[in-house]
Amino acid sequence: MKILKWNNDIDQKELKLVNDALVNGGLVIFPTETVYGLGALATDCEAVKKIFIAKGRAQDNPLIVHLSSCEEIEKYAYIDNQIEKKLIDAFMPGPFTLILRKKDNIPSVVSANLDTVGIRIPSNKIAHEILSYNCIPVAAPSANASGKPSGTNVDDIILEFEDKVDYIIDGSSTDIGLESTVVKVIDGVPVILRPGFITKEDILEVIGKVKLSDHLFTKVENGPVESPGMKYKHYAPNTLSELIYIKNTDERIKYFKENSNCNMVIIGSSILSYIKCKKFLYYGDTLEEISHNIFKLLREADKYKPDKILIEGVDKTGLGLAIMNRLIRATGYNYIER
Ligand code: TXA
Ligand code: MG
Repeated sequence: MKILKWNNDIDQKELKLVNDALVNGGLVIFPTETVYGLGALATDCEAVKKIFIAKGRAQDNPLIVHLSSCEEIEKYAYIDNQIEKKLIDAFMPGPFTLILRKKDNIPSVVSANLDTVGIRIPSNKIAHEILSYNCIPVAAPSANASGKPSGTNVDDIILEFEDKVDYIIDGSSTDIGLESTVVKVIDGVPVILRPGFITKEDILEVIGKVKLSDHLFTKVENGPVESPGMKYKHYAPNTLSELIYIKNTDERIKYFKENSNCNMVIIGSSILSYIKCKKFLYYGDTLEEISHNIFKLLREADKYKPDKILIEGVDKTGLGLAIMNRLIRATGYNYIER
């Protein structure tokens, strides 16, 4: 495994090495504007199988295919209606994944035997350069062992993938920090299967209608789901954790004061910074900061070996919806919201 540090100037020789690795069935970890991806050539079944092994990922959980531009979409998927077209025009390239009816060149190992495929066109420069080099389709889940928080920086990623990939491209910590918004148009309505930086409000403004999947905040036990990823444990620290969102700020501070002790880690905003605990991890005071920092802090919290991690929640509007979706799952649905 080799780490390549890429900033604004991308060395063309290194870019070729990375392309060679992908075209020859290798695995490459690369940054996007959301989180790092663990990529393989999407049309190479054997290479794609290596992704599932490296992550320990369930075979029935499909992968997103990353492309260099909107012009590439119809090589791999059908755009069936005007709503899909409008969503593509409005939000791609960007932190947005659209589930479309797949064409036959997308192997069933990528789509986990579904007849659809998630298509994403990252706006991140490094991702774009890799995908543009000979216009390759790259299947890539988030770069993290299955069940763990998504990788947003190379230090966290190395620990999990050191011996499992050909290259890790270090493009610093990712901007947004939470994975893309996943949307599928069902019966003419865009349905959010996973909330992200492109919000419900953004989609409503463009399309005039939007729905949230029923499973964003509830545990899926059995039965059909629109997105297989919803069934699995995700984003979880190793330590028992609890998410607390109490709308009234004074009451929220009071709850933390009464429930924290010197064996606990608190992850939260500046209003909680003086509360007695083993370690306070500041996640920011805006939704953008929280989104950027949260996965790194969920991993960091474990390092203090606390008895418990208490996490401050946010209001579920705008980007807050995506943050709460990840945190509720990270805590294994152990949360208070009032
Ligand atoms: O921001 C992102 O989306 C990152 C970067 C690397 O692009 N990727 C990512 O991939 O988060 P992954 O595999 O960790 O999450 C993809 C989610 C999973 O929950 C999966 O079940 C769902 O999208 N998904 C993929 N293909 C699908 C399909 N055809 N139908 C329904 N859900 C799908
Ligand atoms: Mg993931």
